[in-house]
Amino acid sequence: MRMILLGPPGAGKGTQAHYLVEKYGMYHLSTGDILREAKEADSELGRQAKAYMDKGELVPDEIVIGLVREKLQDPSVRLVGFLLDGFPRTLAQAKALDELLDELDQELVAVVNLEVQPVTIVERLAKRRVCRECKASFHLEFNPPETEGICDYCGGELYQRSDDQEETILRRLNVYQQQTEPLITYYDQKGLLVNIDGERSVEEVSEAITKQLEELTDKHDCA
Ligand code: AP5
Ligand code: MG
Ligand code: ZN
Repeated sequence: MRMILLGPPGAGKGTQAHYLVEKYGMYHLSTGDILREAKEADSELGRQAKAYMDKGELVPDEIVIGLVREKLQDPSVRLVGFLLDGFPRTLAQAKALDELLDELDQELVAVVNLEVQPVTIVERLAKRRVCRECKASFHLEFNPPETEGICDYCGGELYQRSDDQEETILRRLNVYQQQTEPLITYYDQKGLLVNIDGERSVEEVSEAITKQLEELTDKHDCA
């Protein structure tokens, strides 16, 4: 399976990625997770990205494209497929991805677009907690961990992301609308777009995505 999860901040991309990877076994490539790890490790990449991330701005295209290129070229990723979470986020990134997939002689199967209203986004992000180890997302009300402060999946410590402050959330939302939303039309024109109502429960969204993907892969198999 080779797919993109598109959607505004807090739409549930990371949450749904968790289920999809369990089901299909593809490589989960979250540019946000990679950049946050680099920031924590204080690596060269992390130092370059930090100022942009803390403000809720996008990290420059060249940096992110280079990172994705390196991962998708990896032979093990080529074998199992990938789920892109938080990439592409600009038209330049989408075009660079098209070129890269051409070089690798691979095609996208679907671009799943999670549709969620701004008011829901603020509600979700303000009470999100993330695992330091496996990066799983929880929500204090909607998706609480079994034990407070501890990840259900790996026992890791849960923390609040520094960009989950109201002011930064609103900036991220604005950046999404200006720079990322045009990708919906871009992928619709390529016939790859699958819109999913992301306002429902985690389980309902997950079922809706799986159903659509199954229909698509059936079609591929019949062709
Ligand atoms: P990134 O880490 O990608 O953040 P984002 O796009 O803002 O998305 P989030 O991770 O905040 O949300 P999500 O959709 O994964 O939601 P989640 O599943 O956690 O990027 C961070 C930064 O890195 C960017 O601002 C930028 O600086 C940089 N960056 C990254 N990629 C880049 C790129 N390609 N180019 C340039 N810069 C880049 O869910 C959110 C909450 O809601 C959780 O609490 C969850 O439990 C809850 N929830 C989820 N689903 C449901 C549901 N159905 N019902 C109720 N609650 C739910
Ligand atoms: Mg995420
Ligand atoms: Zn964990």
